[in-house]
Amino acid sequence: MRVSIKRDYDFIEYDVDMQDATLLEVLEAIKTTQDNSLAYSSGCRSSVCGSCAMRVNEKEVLACAYKVQAGDVIEPLKNVEVIRDLVVNMDRALKTNKRAKTWLQTYNKEAKLTHEDEKINALQSDCILCGACYSACPVYAVNTDFLGPFALTGVWKYISDKREAEPKEKIDTIQTNGVWDCTLCNECTLVCPQGISSKADIEKLRMKSSQFGYMDSSFAQSFGGGLSF
Ligand code: SF4
Ligand code: SF4
Ligand code: FES
Repeated sequence: MRVSIKRDYDFIEYDVDMQDATLLEVLEAIKTTQDNSLAYSSGCRSSVCGSCAMRVNEKEVLACAYKVQAGDVIEPLKNVEVIRDLVVNMDRALKTNKRAKTWLQTYNKEAKLTHEDEKINALQSDCILCGACYSACPVYAVNTDFLGPFALTGVWKYISDKREAEPKEKIDTIQTNGVWDCTLCNECTLVCPQGISSKADIEKLRMKSSQFGYMDSSFAQSFGGGLSF
């Protein structure tokens, strides 16, 4: 079968004689038998490390999980700097975690987590920072100050953790370029290999923001500035 891989500014076609192979296996075969200059990232080979995210036919996948089909068009993630071929620099996206303060800020030592408490944000804890959601997000594509899907999911994870004693501090942090900038398009959910819905987490963060007196500033402006929050 033939696949096409974006390399610098061109798409290069490769013929591979493989059946039921993952994209990572195909890339390894091309590199070892046809073109050892092909660059891509990988690590665990089992959907755990998040380092092999890329796009196939304009949809984000993990190369170690995706089964290649004839005619597939393979490209690097979007909305990140391409270092070479399919290798991208995730630094800018990862820095959103720092801007969003995705950690326990004020630790309530008295609060003890039960097994039931741990289930509340178990899904959010499964994020492997693959960057697929940032690649798919149309808001991050045009506004790199937007905190973005995995950072906002991270904020929800700690807001919903009863050991966080000052949730309002976290809510304050996500009002600008954060929860209200998301269009709720759901693209991040559709591409997440871990089944995380950042869109759903952002909706919960909006409800929490409202409880602390915040609202969408564009909505407030539509009332001629007559609302205060
Ligand atoms: S939320 Fe999902 S798509 Fe986004 S970085 Fe985490 S695992 Fe990847
Ligand atoms: S739902 Fe929000 S965070 Fe997710 S892709 Fe759409 S705009 Fe981005
Ligand atoms: S190689 Fe680790 S997630 Fe694919």
